[in-house]
Amino acid sequence: MRHFQVKFASAAHEVWVGAGLIGKLGRLTREAGLAPGRIAMVTDSNVGPLYSELASDSLRASGYEPITIEVEAGEQSKSLEVLATLYDRFVAEQLDRNSIVFALGGGVVGDLAGFAAATYLRGVPLVQIPTTVVAQVDSSLGGKTAVNHHHAKNLLGAFYQPRLIVADVAALRTLADREFREGLAEVIKYGAIMDAAMLERYGASLDRILARDETAVEQFVGDSLERKAQVVTDDEREQGRRRILNFGHTVGHALEAAFGYKQYLHGEAVAIGMVEAAKLSIVCAGLSPAEAEQLSKLIERSGLPTAMPPQWQSEEFERALKLDKKRSDKAVEFVMLEKLGRAVLRRLSFDDILDNL
Ligand SMILES: NC(=O)c1ccc[n+]([C@@H]2O[C@H](COP(=O)([O-])OP(=O)(O)OC[C@H]3O[C@@H](n4cnc5c(N)ncnc54)[C@H](O)[C@@H]3O)[C@@H](O)[C@H]2O)c1
Ligand SMILES: [Zn+2]
Repeated sequence: MRHFQVKFASAAHEVWVGAGLIGKLGRLTREAGLAPGRIAMVTDSNVGPLYSELASDSLRASGYEPITIEVEAGEQSKSLEVLATLYDRFVAEQLDRNSIVFALGGGVVGDLAGFAAATYLRGVPLVQIPTTVVAQVDSSLGGKTAVNHHHAKNLLGAFYQPRLIVADVAALRTLADREFREGLAEVIKYGAIMDAAMLERYGASLDRILARDETAVEQFVGDSLERKAQVVTDDEREQGRRRILNFGHTVGHALEAAFGYKQYLHGEAVAIGMVEAAKLSIVCAGLSPAEAEQLSKLIERSGLPTAMPPQWQSEEFERALKLDKKRSDKAVEFVMLEKLGRAVLRRLSFDDILDNL
């Protein structure tokens, strides 16, 4: 089991990583200083039937009064309509300022319930119980919450920190293979941009990770969350250094969008984006070809794609690249590697990027 604190300028919160922690949720919530009261446990139609009873039993044993609110599984639930149904339930259940919102599920539930917690009564305490790799290594920490608008993903949101994060790695056992591997792209990303030794450890235990050995999984989830905490506590609102977390995401986002969000899961597109960013880094940031190859091999061994699809050159791809949030006029800010474990931000023109893909 791993435990650490994330310290922001204004507040701090606890992070727990380990197997079987959902069964200890009541005690961990008490230890985080959250007084017994009502809890709205937001979950989805896949995760609820698997884990909400276990979570609720533990919370009840510690004196809390949980109710479960289940939304349909899938990205379409990150909407204003579903958000409104959460507020309706909060009001109907008479949740007050001392009530706590729990997000039990993947990034969809975390972002949706997080935004509900940030806005209901101008903010009630939030606890994240991430159950996907993506949520355990990435979305549960950092305070970004949002719902989608039909024009754009994550258009409506708030920065809002949880009071507690509990990542139960045993819950990843029921996750589908493709979703499990997808999340590994973000793990590789932390190593590539911040910590070469972490990347070594990851590579050395990859076979055990893919077999979902709990000790190996706990190590990479803990390593990832600690790395992310390090970046976001220095730059809570993404004005500077936090932007290195976009490594692989410029090309990745463009690929996702160009294929209508149907062909690639986010992590798969980011995997290809990291390989391309590493190639550009050889030309523009001095990364050695051997290290770029090492990164690509690790991505491949993780069961993730490494090559641009043959038909990538399209108007949609170019448009999506130019629409990237980090654009300014004719150039984009691109995250590159000087070497494995060290990222730098560089401005690149679209032509430079397109010519080198
Ligand atoms: N806030 C942030 O910083 C941040 C960062 C990255 C991603 N995100 C957001 O996260 C979302 C994607 O998150 P995700 O990949 O976790 O998707 P998700 O929440 O849709 O979960 C993926 C699928 O796995 C199922 N599932 C979840 N846990 C399970 C378990 N333990 N066993 C079996 N099935 C399980 C879900 O029901 C769903 O069908 C996107 O909306 C993205 O925008 C946010
Ligand atoms: Zn990502």
